[in-house]
Amino acid sequence: MAAMSLISLFVTLLFSAAKAAQSPSVIVVGAGMSGISAAKTLYEAGIKDILILEASSRIGGRMLKADFSGYTVEMGANWYNSGGPVANPLVDLAKKVNLKSYINDYSNIAENTYKQEGGLYPKKDVEKVDEVATARDEYCSNFSKMLSRNKKKDVDVSILASQRLYGRPPLTPLEMVIDFYHNDYEDAEPPKVTSLKHTYPRAQFEEHGEYPHFVMDPRGFEVLVQYLASQILKKGSPVQLKLKKVAREIAYSKSGVTIKTEDGSTYSANYVIVSASVGVLQSDLIQFKPTLPVDTNLFQSFPFAELHFGCGEHNSNKFLGYVDGAYLEGIATANDLIKCIKGKGCKGDKNMEV
Ligand SMILES: Cc1cc2nc3c(=O)[nH]c(=O)nc-3n(C[C@H](O)[C@H](O)[C@H](O)COP(=O)(O)OP(=O)(O)OC[C@H]3O[C@@H](n4cnc5c(N)ncnc54)[C@H](O)[C@@H]3O)c2cc1C
Ligand SMILES: *[C@@H]1O[C@H](CO)[C@@H](O)[C@H](O)[C@H]1NC(C)=O
Repeated sequence: MAAMSLISLFVTLLFSAAKAAQSPSVIVVGAGMSGISAAKTLYEAGIKDILILEASSRIGGRMLKADFSGYTVEMGANWYNSGGPVANPLVDLAKKVNLKSYINDYSNIAENTYKQEGGLYPKKDVEKVDEVATARDEYCSNFSKMLSRNKKKDVDVSILASQRLYGRPPLTPLEMVIDFYHNDYEDAEPPKVTSLKHTYPRAQFEEHGEYPHFVMDPRGFEVLVQYLASQILKKGSPVQLKLKKVAREIAYSKSGVTIKTEDGSTYSANYVIVSASVGVLQSDLIQFKPTLPVDTNLFQSFPFAELHFGCGEHNSNKFLGYVDGAYLEGIATANDLIKCIKGKGCKGDKNMEV
């Protein structure tokens, strides 16, 4: 799954009263799950002077439905998990909007795995390969935890390297197709390029649970974002949402932040939360002025939330690449900003040495 990401640039406010009255306190770039969840958290804390700038003509981001011959199909996120020891906040949200879903997992995989030349693999063979893959996953989790315990060195390996250390990497076509369901499918990248430390143990399943809910709702999974947004964009709310506003330049200093959009508009505020994906940030679509004072290597392997900053925040990494991760990161980033606004310490500000 494509990486969820969020950054926050906390810029101290030294605005004159007159200027502050005209400009919103906070600009949120991006109206996907993380941006909307951040805005809602700010709103509930009494920070309601918010402007949300969204590049596309809709809210929802990578939660996107399409019509296929009269049926709704999901183009982005489709599943959420339940049943684990830690409550998945999406379960509650789904209940509130009566989201239709059914449990859909790989339990039938042994009866649905076909040979290249046609015909099914014998069920027993598939079950055996799947058992090996499951034990290998456990080894990968153990090995990843061991790597993480080494606080002195930032050592990491690919998932494939770890599978080789286990001594049983997937080799045959059957082993590889089963491995696909265990790894490639979750990470949207092959195991040879995927960081072990940032994927194992798989918190999504260990914490939020093994029951995958496949959303099959005519309103689409995106209805969750619309539901959250409706609570802050209701009549009389000072929160503004502007669609088709592509942020191209974000200039920040001690006196605030100024954002230029593709259509030539300029917006100023005291703070900004940028919720664009790592992919967008890597593409240089948005020019930061001054450029972000961070090791650009971080962009390749971390969700952007890590950048705010200092990294210790391993938790923000947990549900990376999932809707629940986006939702929780939005809340966490907004809470950091609330702390900052209340004068209890500005993470971004300090770490970025603005
Ligand atoms: C094909 C696919 C399948 C997936 N399947 C699942 C799944 O089954 N379960 C699951 O939990 N997760 C899944 N995910 C991941 C999940 O969709 C994302 O983690 C989550 O939606 C990310 O939310 P976000 O708010 O962080 O980012 P986004 O949804 O990307 O939101 C960012 C928003 O910022 C806007 N933006 C970007 N740049 C700018 C700019 N310069 N100016 C203004 N606005 C800008 C974008 O238009 C977008 O609306 C899947 C993702 C994909 C792509
Ligand atoms: C993983 O660690 C657990 C707990 O230490 C241990 O019981 C288990 O055998 C290990 N599994 C593998 C495959 O190494």
